[in-house]
Amino acid sequence: MIEIRATSSPVKGATAVCIYGAGGHAVDLLTQLSFDARRFDIKCMVDDFRPDRQLLGYTVMTFDQALSQNPDAPWLVAVGDCLNRKRIFERIESHNRRIISFVSSLAHVGRVGELGPGVQIFSGCYLSDNVRLGKGVVMNANSSVSHDCVIGDFSTLSPACILGGRVCVENEVFIGLGAKITHRKLGQPLTVGKNAVVGVGAVVIDDVESGATVVGVPAVSIR
Ligand SMILES: CC(C)(COP(=O)(O)OP(=O)(O)OC[C@H]1O[C@@H](n2cnc3c(N)ncnc32)[C@H](O)[C@@H]1OP(=O)(O)O)[C@@H](O)C(=O)NCCC(=O)NCCS
Repeated sequence: MIEIRATSSPVKGATAVCIYGAGGHAVDLLTQLSFDARRFDIKCMVDDFRPDRQLLGYTVMTFDQALSQNPDAPWLVAVGDCLNRKRIFERIESHNRRIISFVSSLAHVGRVGELGPGVQIFSGCYLSDNVRLGKGVVMNANSSVSHDCVIGDFSTLSPACILGGRVCVENEVFIGLGAKITHRKLGQPLTVGKNAVVGVGAVVIDDVESGATVVGVPAVSIR
């Protein structure tokens, strides 16, 4: 058995950053930061409900403590849930602090497109040309977004999601692990409405109404 241990020693020339979140997505983000070519000096992690602990060698504290101890550091938001992420963006911005994006050097991002502020694109992701990601969008590892897709603000793509061309995902949509989305008719656009949830492993081939939860193959609404 080989034991792997994280180290929190800062690297010379690294970008200082505070991370809001200290749960599962935060661990995934730490992993991504650790194997990215750009180096990060993580000043602290924030969890308002469970501060005063260590996470993989980093100190977890409240937002107020982090603000006073790190007046200049920009922020990364490490929260998978769409609405919570949106609230945390608003909270950080209300203190006039900067939120930065993280685009893994191990992702493939098309030359023409638009990335909103505070996006996260993890390793193994693929974005074709003419793709637009809104503010605070998270693309977890190995997800793929094809030509002419639009992903709305604060939507989350879980690992290994695949979106075909001309898919429009509106704001605050959660797409579960390994879901696949493309219109049943070749080349037709498809829309996943605001606040919808797409279940793990779903195959979505028709429009999804706002607020609906869809599961299965082909995906049907359970709510
Ligand atoms: C879709 C989802 C949100 C539904 O959760 P829920 O609202 O708690 O729904 P329930 O567990 O009560 O399930 C309702 C029904 O849908 C079925 N169902 C739920 N998720 C399903 C899925 N992904 N595929 C097929 N059927 C599913 C359940 O079996 C249940 O069927 P039944 O009524 O015949 O017993 C959840 O199952 C899911 O897929 N979450 C995404 C998880 C994920 O990808 N996380 C990312 C980690 S990085």
